[in-house]
Amino acid sequence: MATGVPSNRRVNREAYSLQYAGKLARADVLALPAAEPVEIPIASEAGRLFQGDNLPALLWLRSQRGVRGKVRSVYIDPPYATAMAFVDRDGNHGYDDHLAGAEYVEFLRRRFIVLHDLLAADGSIFVHLDQNMIFETKILMDEIFGRENFRNLITRKKCNTKNYTRKCFGNISDHILFYTKSDEYVWHRPYDQWSDEKMAEEYPYIDEKSGRRYKKVPVHAPGVRRGETGRPWRGKLPPQGKHWQYPPRRLDEFDAAGEIYWSPNGNPRRKVFFDASKGIPAQDIWMDFRDPHNQNVLITGYPTEKNFDLVTRVLAATTDPGDLVLDCFCGSGTTLEAAAALGRRFIGIDAADAAIKATVKRLREGRGPMGDFVGVRSRKKETQEPHDLFTLAAAMAAPT
Ligand SMILES: C[S@@+](CC[C@H](N)C(=O)[O-])C[C@H]1O[C@@H](n2cnc3c(N)ncnc32)[C@H](O)[C@@H]1O
Repeated sequence: MATGVPSNRRVNREAYSLQYAGKLARADVLALPAAEPVEIPIASEAGRLFQGDNLPALLWLRSQRGVRGKVRSVYIDPPYATAMAFVDRDGNHGYDDHLAGAEYVEFLRRRFIVLHDLLAADGSIFVHLDQNMIFETKILMDEIFGRENFRNLITRKKCNTKNYTRKCFGNISDHILFYTKSDEYVWHRPYDQWSDEKMAEEYPYIDEKSGRRYKKVPVHAPGVRRGETGRPWRGKLPPQGKHWQYPPRRLDEFDAAGEIYWSPNGNPRRKVFFDASKGIPAQDIWMDFRDPHNQNVLITGYPTEKNFDLVTRVLAATTDPGDLVLDCFCGSGTTLEAAAALGRRFIGIDAADAAIKATVKRLREGRGPMGDFVGVRSRKKETQEPHDLFTLAAAMAAPT
C-alpha cells in the first residue's frame, strides 16, 4: 500500500464558484423579505412546527430570540430536482419537485445562506440528496460553508438491489453532505456493532496470559521526527521515513502492561484488545439505513420519508441534550421526532399540507408498521374509498 506523506510544494488554492444567471449577492439574499410562517399546534413540547415557504420563514427566524447563531444541527432533505410531482394514487397533491438547473441551485443557495447564519459557531449541517444534484450542491456548500469545513460525503444504500433493464449499474445509493460551521464542532463519534464474524476477522489473536482477543497494529507512523519519537527505542530506530507513534516512555508502559507483541525477529507491534472497543467507528458508507424495506419497519407513509435511525445517528453525533435542531424541509417530521427522542429541541418547517398533516399525526400518534399501510391500501381499494397520501407512499415503498 502506498503511503502519502506531507509535501512541501506550494499548493495554489485559488477559489472557484458556480456561475449562473440570477445569482444574488449574499447581502441581498439576507435582505429579502422575511415573513412569519403559520405556526401549527403539535403534541410535543420539544419544538415548534411552521407551515410556509422556508426562505421567508428562515429569514424571519433570524429575528427570533434564541435562534440566530444557536442552531446546533441542521438536517435537510430538500427536493432533488427530480422533475416529479409527489402525489397520492388518486392524484391528491403532496409536493412538487419541479425546479431544475440554475433555478434549483439558487433555490438551495439562498436557503444555505440563511441556514449558515442561523447555525451556531460549533454547529453542523447535513444535506441529503441523490446523484442528480449532489455535485453542484457540493460546490455551493464549499462557497457558503467553506471548503475547509467539508467533513464527509456519506453514501447510503437506500434500497434493495434493483433489477435494471437500463444499460447502467443499479442505482441503490444516495448521499449526505456533511459540513460544519467551523473546525470546532460538537462530535460524538457513532459506532456500529461488531458481528461475531467481523470481530474474529478484525481481532484474530488471543492473548495467552489473559485469554483476551486482540489485533496487532503498528507502533510507528509516516513522517520523520527530530524529537524523541525519531530516536531509537529498545535499540531500534523507527523504520525509514517513519517515527514512533508514542514517546519511548509510553512504549515502555505498553510493554510492561503486556500490550506489545514482539515478532520472532524482534519487531514491536501494539496489541489492541477487543474488549476496549466501543464498536466499529462509523465510516462514510452506510449500508444499514435503507428506506422502508420490510413490512415491520415503522413509517408515517409520507412519500420520500427518510429512515428514522439514519437521522437519529446524525443528530446524536452532532448535538448535546437540549440543543436546537432545525429541518426546514421537514416533510413527515422524521428530524423532529428524532430530535425529540434524543432530548433535543426542534424547529420544523414545510410548505405542503400533506407534510404538515403527516408531521402532526406522527408527533401525536407515532408511526405504524409499513405492513399496516399496505393493508389499509388494499382494503380501501376494495371499498373504493379515497386513498390518502399515507396509503400511497406505503404502496410506493412496498417491495416488488
Ligand atoms: C424530500 S421531502 C422531505 C422528507 C422528509 N425528510 C421526511 O423524512 O419525511 C422534501 C420536502 O420539502 C418540502 N418543501 C419543498 N420546497 C419547500 C419550500 N420552499 N419551503 C418549505 N418546504 C418545502 C416539501 O413539501 C417536502 O415535504
